[in-house]
Amino acid sequence: MSAADVEKALDEAGVSNPHVREYVTYWAGITEPAAVEVVNASDDARLVAEALEAGELQPAGEGLYYSRSYVKDTARSEERTIVATSKPEDKGVYNNWRDAEEMSASQLERMRGQSAGKTMYVVPYLMAPQGSPLEAYAAGVELTDNRPVVLHMIRMARVGVTYLDQLEDPQHFVRAVHVTGDLPNLGQGTDADQRYFVTVADQRTILHFGSSYGGNALLGKIAHGLRQACYDGRASDRFLAEQFMLLGISDKETGKRWHIAGGFPSASGKTNLAMTLAPDALGDRYHVEFYGDDIAWLWVDPDDGRVYAMNPEFGVFGVAKDTNEKTNPTALDSIEPGSGAIFTNVAYNDLTQEVWWEGKTKNPPAELEGWHDWKGEKIADREPGDDSPWAHPNSRFTTTLANVPNVAGDFEDPKGVPVDAIIFGGRTRDREPLVRAITDLAEGVYDGLTLGAEATFAADGLDGQLRYDPMSMRPFMAYSEADYAAHWLKIIGAASNPPIFAHVNWFQKDAEDGHFLWPGYRENLRPLLWLMQFKDGDAKGEATPVGVIPTLEELNMDGLEVPAADMDRILKIDLDRWRQEMDFRHEHLEQFDGLPEAIWEAHRRVAKALEA
Ligand code: GDP
Ligand code: PGA
Ligand code: MN
Ligand code: MN
Repeated sequence: MSAADVEKALDEAGVSNPHVREYVTYWAGITEPAAVEVVNASDDARLVAEALEAGELQPAGEGLYYSRSYVKDTARSEERTIVATSKPEDKGVYNNWRDAEEMSASQLERMRGQSAGKTMYVVPYLMAPQGSPLEAYAAGVELTDNRPVVLHMIRMARVGVTYLDQLEDPQHFVRAVHVTGDLPNLGQGTDADQRYFVTVADQRTILHFGSSYGGNALLGKIAHGLRQACYDGRASDRFLAEQFMLLGISDKETGKRWHIAGGFPSASGKTNLAMTLAPDALGDRYHVEFYGDDIAWLWVDPDDGRVYAMNPEFGVFGVAKDTNEKTNPTALDSIEPGSGAIFTNVAYNDLTQEVWWEGKTKNPPAELEGWHDWKGEKIADREPGDDSPWAHPNSRFTTTLANVPNVAGDFEDPKGVPVDAIIFGGRTRDREPLVRAITDLAEGVYDGLTLGAEATFAADGLDGQLRYDPMSMRPFMAYSEADYAAHWLKIIGAASNPPIFAHVNWFQKDAEDGHFLWPGYRENLRPLLWLMQFKDGDAKGEATPVGVIPTLEELNMDGLEVPAADMDRILKIDLDRWRQEMDFRHEHLEQFDGLPEAIWEAHRRVAKALEA
């Protein structure tokens, strides 16, 4: 289409910001779509109807939808993800740094003409509640040639043209270009892989080519909300953007209220922790509210010296596997008929329009007729003995925050919430106790930097050695780890009333039969309550070389039966394993040139305490 036609589409949609107009016109000239359409959240019903008509979505009950992504396009692709800037000093260990000019030029060539015959949707969005002190970093415009991506964006971000009219600086929005590409012919996973997911961080430009899936394609969420914001937070010297869940706990008896932010690597329990603690926890004494499950931006309010946090997202993109009435009833309530939820890559019955995933019910549906697995293959046609999962292990549900029954009353309050604790955790089968509290800032940041989880599918490396994932930001780190550590010390160090740190682990296993020692899920409220009591001076715990752990007496165990031997294990520090871990940590930290001395001092303090 001609530039004049693009201008006409923008006129009709009321897009007046000249910088947005120039950006859209420029990219339409590169990707050559057949049409340009500007999107508002209020277009959802019409776009859903079009997607159903086109077969991009299937009905999955009243106001519920099913989508299947291309079989080789079912997860974020970390090795194809790049942070490009014009400053070589931004190169870190994990950010796959490349030169901005070179990457921008090659992405442009990859995208040229690739939207031919398609509609380019213009999706203006805001990654913040309106009025947030960080609103200036939150605006973006995603261009995408994929309608299901638009429908996901409407659920996951605040979408509408009005956000563009309210920019303080009309040039200051993230330019986020998504081009799907010819998915069956991109050589995914081969030497000829065509996919690149690039954040040109110092130009606030995101160029993603070769996927229509989740974190690769919903550019507001991970590319902007995490990677770009991570960069902006440091460039502006104002904030942190982290892969954190965020929740609030009220004690109805004492009237106390606390907020906890926490970073766990992908698939380590953020969504479950934030959603499932639910209102009736522990005999109705506590009320737990949901703020966010994947991203938090944190800053210090100079007025009260506290760290504040907010969730920049508008929805939840949750792992479906094992979500059921027992593990996470709140999640099930948030995807009820009428919620508008979209299921991706679960199993689907095209006769009954039901969806199913492993762990939804104990056994899969007995009547196989109509059921298709995540690849679209008929379950009834499977070879005998084929017990591969019906749903992809990374299948997801997408729903807006307002559908979550325990979403906090003030989740849209631009002021954010004051943070009482920052917790880190991963899947660790031994060594890490249920919870250990850390009161020193440098030791807390050190603990985050040495966060690790068991490698899941790429399980190489020494036995007992973790895949380190600093602050759970390894896939989203935008600049060097050493500078990132310094920025953390600076931002949180500016708080006169800082949060406490803690490390949690719900995943210790019995060495013999492999059962989880701690029941997890809703019971995770108990160690969090102990942490808040410890912070408030209402619990003393027991000091260890790696932090303060609760005594069994201090932990609220009302109505919960856990074998004494298991409790013993998860409330104990295994000194031998910890000493071994310190050598791994040393190697890990040595990779980060110029790491602040305060972090090395913390490392040495912990090592020395372990030797004593
Ligand atoms: P996220 O990707 O970090 O948001 O993680 P999720 O909350 O989606 O959880 C990932 C997987 O871990 C899911 O299959 C959950 O059922 C499982 N999970 C979450 N919390 C717990 C827990 O406390 N204990 C155990 N054993 N599994 C959990
Ligand atoms: P997760 O979020 O952390 O729940 O997996 C999505 C992602 O990180 O891609
Ligand atoms: Mn995540
Ligand atoms: Mn999650």
